[in-house]
Parts: sequence; C-alpha cells; structure tokens
Amino acid sequence: MNIRVNFSLKEYNTFHIDVSAKQFVEVSTEQEAFEYLKHHHDPTEKFLILGGGSNILFVDDFEGTILHTKMKGIVLTPLNDSATLVEAAAGEEWDDLVEYCVNNNLGGIENLSLIPGCVGAAPIQNIGAYGVELADVFHSLDAINITTGSKQVFTKVDCRFGYRDSIFKNELKEKYLITKVRLKLSNYPKLNTSYKVLNEFLLIRNITPTLGNVATAVKEIRRSKLPDPVLLGNAGSFFKNPVILKENYLNLCKAYNNVPSFPIDETTVKIPAAWLIEQAGLKGKRIGNVGTHIKQPLVIVNYGGASGNEAIELMELIHKTVQNKFGILLENEVNIIK
Ligand code: FAD
Ligand code: EPU
Repeated sequence: MNIRVNFSLKEYNTFHIDVSAKQFVEVSTEQEAFEYLKHHHDPTEKFLILGGGSNILFVDDFEGTILHTKMKGIVLTPLNDSATLVEAAAGEEWDDLVEYCVNNNLGGIENLSLIPGCVGAAPIQNIGAYGVELADVFHSLDAINITTGSKQVFTKVDCRFGYRDSIFKNELKEKYLITKVRLKLSNYPKLNTSYKVLNEFLLIRNITPTLGNVATAVKEIRRSKLPDPVLLGNAGSFFKNPVILKENYLNLCKAYNNVPSFPIDETTVKIPAAWLIEQAGLKGKRIGNVGTHIKQPLVIVNYGGASGNEAIELMELIHKTVQNKFGILLENEVNIIK
C-alpha cells in the first residue's frame, strides 16, 4: 500500500484537470484493499475510488481520500467446450484485457477495443461500443463493501445493467469497491459487425471479419472519430444518448429532416446526443480553454489549462440550448466530482 498526501491528480484524470487529493492511496492487491478499508478508512471523510480517471470530471481539489486500484492479474478457466471464464483484477487496463482475449482467440469483447480505463470501472456504467456492451458477456464480480469491509459476489442479475447504467450508479453508488470482474467468453467467436460504421469499414476495405480484424477495425474507427486524451484532455462522451418516446420522435421528424435514431423497443427510440448538439449550433464551440470536439460534439475537450468549472459552464450551456431547442434534457455520462 502506498499512501501520499497533497497528491496531484493531473496525470490521473484523462481531462487533465490540475487538482490535487488530500490523501491518495494506491492498493496493489485485494488484501491491501481489505486492510485499508478495515483499519484506515474514515467513513466521515470524503472518499472516492479511482481507476483510470477516464469518466470523471474533477471540479475542485479533493478534500478527502482517493483509493486508486492497481490490482493486476488475468486467469482463464475453461467452462465447457464452447466457453471460457475470464477473471481479471480491477486494476488491469481494460484494453490490455481485450487484447489478451483476442490473442487467446476468446470472443465477445473485441468490439470494446480501445475503451480507456480499468477493468474495475467497466461494470459501473456497463461500458459499450459498436453494438456490444459489457452485460452481453458479463458473468459476475467480486466487491468489498466500503462500510463493513465484507466481500460480496454480484451476478449479472444483481448488477441491473442498462444503457450506461448499473446498480453501482444508483442504489449502491459509492458503496462498493469492485476487485475482480469475470466474463464468459466464447471459444468459437460469433462476430458482431452489425454496427453500421463497423460493417461499412470492413466491406469497403474488403476485410474478412476475424476476431483480430474486428478489433483492429474498431481501433481505427475510434482513432478517426475520438480525440486521444493524451493529446487533448477529455473523458469520452460527456452526455448519454437520450431515449425518447416514439411519438416525440415523430414530432421531431415533422420539424427536422433525417433525424437519426436507433429503435430500443415498441415505444422508445434512442437519438444521438451528438446530432442534437450539432443541430443546436454547438459542434466545435469553444469557450476559453474548453470546447466541444470538432468531429464529435458529444465530447467536451480541454484545450489546455482548463478548470473543472469551465467544463461545467459549457455543459450547462449545452443542457440549456438543447432543452430550449428540442425539449430534451441531456443526461450526463461523466461523473462530476466536487
Ligand atoms: P474512472 O473514471 O476512474 O471511474 C469512473 C467511475 O467508476 C467513478 O465513479 C469511480 O469511482 C468508479 N470506479 C472506478 N473503479 C472502480 C472500482 N474498482 N470499484 C468501484 N467503483 C469504481 N465508455 C464507454 O462505455 N464506451 C466508450 O466507447 C467509451 N469511449 C471513451 C473514449 C474516450 C476517449 C474516453 C476518455 C472515455 C471513454 N469512455 C467510454 C468512458 C470510460 O472509458 C469508461 O467509463 C471506463 O470504464 C472508465 O474507467 P476508469 O477506470 O477510467 O474509471
Ligand atoms: N452525429 C452527428 N454529428 C456528429 C457526430 C455524430 O450528428 O458530429 C450523429 C450521426 O447521426 C451518427 C450518430 O450521431 O450516426 C452516432 O455517432 P457515433 O457512431 O459516433 O456514436 P455516438 O452515439 O455519438 C456512442 C457512444 C460512444 C461509443 C460509440 C460507438 C454514447 C453516449 N456514446 O457515441 O461511447 O464509442 O457510440 O458505439 O452512447 C463514451 O461512452 O464515452 C463513448 C465514446
């Protein structure tokens, strides 16, 4: 266990907001995590678990303790002829896990290539991309109750996954430290190339869809569309894509041409927030050190030296403008830490 005080968080959040934590604790094993929570954790103090900091916006210095997960390890266990159980520790880089599985010919998470962050955070918002989400392959996870220090296993049903959602963003928000995640992957991968952009990418280049080729294609598409946080601070999509009633969607179609949509069920459709923000005239909008990305307005970027409050002001402008124009209130995806 490594404990530091007045620790700079600038390199520990992909927005690169220059704030510090009063106390920063790194845990490299599950045992260290237990030990910290049992013997040192003060329940009256502010507390935050931090993985890769790629879905977080710090607004101020953090006047409490940040627990940073560094536990490593991946274990493969055959389940039957067709499936393998993959157990990964919370501090593994998500994309390293994807690469490891692709190299071992295990299918199911190749479409989730290049998503930044750690394994332990993946269930929190049920990460998703290019037609696949974590829930599709999720088996179970181990977590420690932050208050009692007791260990608990959560099955897929327990996690109540939804679009960018889980029980850990609702009833159990900030109540558990996830230490291990288990996935059930296929020994005979069934590739999912149904996402339009991915399908077109493979077809146009005449690429045979294999596990490795799909992973490589997803990486290339992502690099062409999303800003690299190493070069331009950001936390991915700042907002979720809103899910609206079909009747509201049809009204929108009367006022605007070619409103993009993805059917969810009989009564609702998902609309790209990027489209709403672009139509509201805010694509590429820059105010001071922050702006919406020129290629993907769903992403708020830090042009350098931005404060968390500058990002919040732009977020509020986007909320207000989109709501006034379309009557739709965007929901944040990024976790705002005050
Ligand atoms: P952090 O930002 O460190 O934490 C996020 C939340 O999880 C916080 O509330 C934190 O307290 C909690 N948390 C973290 N670890 C644990 C743990 N072990 N136990 C309990 N709670 C924990 N997301 C997608 O779904 N799809 C995408 O396509 C996608 N693309 C992205 C592209 C870019 C360029 C960026 C910067 C982000 C993108 N994201 C995407 C968002 C982000 O990568 C994911 O949400 C990722 O899972 C966050 O992981 P992290 O380790 O960085 O979490
Ligand atoms: N669009 C515009 N203008 C733009 C960009 C996009 O109108 O400038 C519209 C287009 O109609 C396009 C549609 O938005 O077809 C969808 O765009 P894209 O395929 O880029 O996906 P997205 O809906 O904007 C979502 C996720 C991403 C994920 C991609 C790929 C959310 C909030 N975002 O973005 O996740 O990588 O799909 O599956 O669901 C993240 O969560 O951080 C993230 C990056």
